[in-house]
Amino acid sequence: MAQQEDVFKKIVSHCKEYGFVFPSSDIYDGLGAVYDYGQNGVELKNNIKQYWWQSMVLLHQNIVGIDAAIFMHPTTWKASGHVDAFNDPLIDNRDSKKRYRADVLIEDQMAKYDEKIEKEIAKARKRFGDSFDEAQFRATNARVLEHQAKRDALHERFAKAMNANDLDELKQIIIDEEIVCPISGTRNWTDVRQFNLMFKTEMGSTAEGASTIYLRPETAQGIFVNYLNVQKTGRMKVPFGIAQIGKAFRNEIVARQFIFRMREFEQMEMQFFVKPGTELTWFEQWKKTRMAWHQALGFGAENYRFHDHDKLAHYANAATDIEFHMPFGFKEVEGIHSRTNFDLSQHAKYSGKKIEYFDPETNESYTPFVIETSIGVDRMFLSVMCHAYNEEQLENGETRVVLRLPAALAPVKLAVLPLVKKDGLPEKAQEIINDLRFHFNCKYEEKDTIGKRYRRMDAIGCPYCVTIDHDTLNDNCVTLRDRDTMEQTRVPISELRNIIEDKVSITSLLKKLL
Ligand code: GAP
Repeated sequence: MAQQEDVFKKIVSHCKEYGFVFPSSDIYDGLGAVYDYGQNGVELKNNIKQYWWQSMVLLHQNIVGIDAAIFMHPTTWKASGHVDAFNDPLIDNRDSKKRYRADVLIEDQMAKYDEKIEKEIAKARKRFGDSFDEAQFRATNARVLEHQAKRDALHERFAKAMNANDLDELKQIIIDEEIVCPISGTRNWTDVRQFNLMFKTEMGSTAEGASTIYLRPETAQGIFVNYLNVQKTGRMKVPFGIAQIGKAFRNEIVARQFIFRMREFEQMEMQFFVKPGTELTWFEQWKKTRMAWHQALGFGAENYRFHDHDKLAHYANAATDIEFHMPFGFKEVEGIHSRTNFDLSQHAKYSGKKIEYFDPETNESYTPFVIETSIGVDRMFLSVMCHAYNEEQLENGETRVVLRLPAALAPVKLAVLPLVKKDGLPEKAQEIINDLRFHFNCKYEEKDTIGKRYRRMDAIGCPYCVTIDHDTLNDNCVTLRDRDTMEQTRVPISELRNIIEDKVSITSLLKKLL
């Protein structure tokens, strides 16, 4: 575990050192849980967004995109339930004065039972070697059974308390489980209180005339309030979807783990409108489609899992998360929710507008049900970084840090490196860039030895480098180096586009989805 934490720290500092992610307002020592993307980060982030957008809007004839404003009519949030119910249960430790989410403290406690079980299993595996039968061990070992029973009981009690919004019971669980504050080490807890996560501001110039508006905590509502506009102007037929990428804001109580939980972040959401009664079939379909999107990146199926929700939101009739194996455990990257017709019905009620679909085939009108897929761009970015970051021992005894990014997501696709800064080599390099820059992102680098330049390109995940040497001037060939294998081959300049373009384009990923 400690080793994994070290890896995570290295990833965070790598992100800063190589221009991927900086703390916001860094010269003022940052702002809690707000981050800026640097010159390489923004390219990687844009590529992730493009991969998502194209998989939704290009590959589906019945999905269109929109870009709604961040500010919305305040009644939107009353109708959606966010004013009354978008709360997290918080608790303070009186000694450290630190604030925690009560549900997270309890989830961490459940993870401790899981860790204890895993430890027992690891010990036994070592002892029994090849003959070890994990399933049998789990079913019979007294210590494992004891931890499992405690975990299950805690899980049941926790799910019940969350479902009933029982704040006293949440506190009682924290006391009964003897959970201590990680800072002060004490159990001197306040009561659990609800805390609304929406940021507020005022629109209008005078105090009397100004109205309170919210920074949207999810992009989804911008889609719901535009359902009629899009359905009518696009003459969309159910089932159809509306996709959107945009910023969302939440005043998170505990902001931890770098860009995993931020106060300003970005979501990629798609609401898929379906006929009532068909929603659970579509829910299963979208689970498959979204998992395939993740797995096409080639990070290994074992690094993903579904986690079904214990506590269903009042409007949902099914919900699951896609979790990715981060250095700090399996964590939610995407949520897939069957939201019934709750949102559209609420907006119909609060706006007084009829929000329905007339089905020309059956001649009936209904309020469509909705399947939502909702993924955080920043969490996706983090999962890509965590998987890509590698420290490798080379044959010559050196180590290299390499980001094994999928080529289609890499910020820079090709580095063009003249061997020396003279003899016409820089000019030749520039010629190559002038030709290829229309097709993919190229970078010119002439400083330092070729070895050092290769390392810098490995560190930003650039899949290809070409070196221009004196022979290039005569034979019009360059040395092409592959980031992952470090193999070098001599290829004609005229072939570069053919060799590289296909491998670095988003299309190469999209084709895996069909
Ligand atoms: N419209 C549904 C919705 O917003 P959610 O599970 O609250 O559902 C969806 O959020 C996704 O947004 C999450 O799976 C996560 O990737 C991302 N997300 C949520 N809160 C976040 C935060 N504070 N920082 C970064 N990403 C966040």
